[in-house]
Amino acid sequence: MNRRRRIYEGKAKVLYEGPEPGTLIQHFKDDATAFNAKKHAVIEGKGVLNNRISEFLFERLEEIGVPTHFIKTLNMREQLVREVEIIPIEVVVRNVAAGSLATKLGLEEGMQLPRSIIEFYYKADELNDPMVSEEHITAFGWATPQELDEMMQLAIRINDFMVGLFLGIGIKLVDFKIEFGRHYENDHVNIILADEISPDSCRLWDTQTSDKLDKDRFRQDLGGLLEAYQEVARRLGVLNQNRPATGAGPVLVASNNPTGSPS
Ligand code: TMP
Repeated sequence: MNRRRRIYEGKAKVLYEGPEPGTLIQHFKDDATAFNAKKHAVIEGKGVLNNRISEFLFERLEEIGVPTHFIKTLNMREQLVREVEIIPIEVVVRNVAAGSLATKLGLEEGMQLPRSIIEFYYKADELNDPMVSEEHITAFGWATPQELDEMMQLAIRINDFMVGLFLGIGIKLVDFKIEFGRHYENDHVNIILADEISPDSCRLWDTQTSDKLDKDRFRQDLGGLLEAYQEVARRLGVLNQNRPATGAGPVLVASNNPTGSPS
């Protein structure tokens, strides 16, 4: 039996020791949690879809020059990644008012924001991941001003790219959360994108119907989470492949053709 050393277990993923020094295996579980794990369910197949979707997005981001931890897909649920020292900050980028921003400021959900907004949350479950400012981050040494600057620039590039990518398949990228890590190589330290990007960590709305194709289906008890994630995977062109592959690429959705089927 496989007796790999478990390095870390989070709510939706497990990290195991990798085959070579400096590598880890990132395993996607089927667990869905919300509200700091107060709500929990197991949704069979979610991990497989998130593995595929995250792989696809990280590969596309690498292609445009965003450094990431992704090395290769190992199997349906696992990917080989570079080991990093995670910076304990969740970077949230928002394009449209939703979720905690809409609640906090009394904004109507769906309102286009005047410009993309970046927010930071300190990763501390026992504190419910409080929102923090750049001042807190640098004063407490969670990241240096240079690292923070780099994370913000990368976040903007990632947002610009993903907004366009999703729009091309009939999906509005409302907001998303990303995490970065320090990658030590020779004498250098680089900030690279880590963790995952999937419908667990994004808000994705169908541009035609405004249907939610993300974890809000679970947070708000809407049902149909797996079908929604499958739809995202299908439109990205990564569904139904039993091999570790990058997929055929996004399925272009014409504005009058919401199903994405050839017209
Ligand atoms: P929020 O509106 O609840 O603050 O969420 C903003 C974005 O961050 C949304 O796309 C969901 C994502 N997110 C996570 O990935 N993990 C979390 O723990 C939370 C609270 C949000």
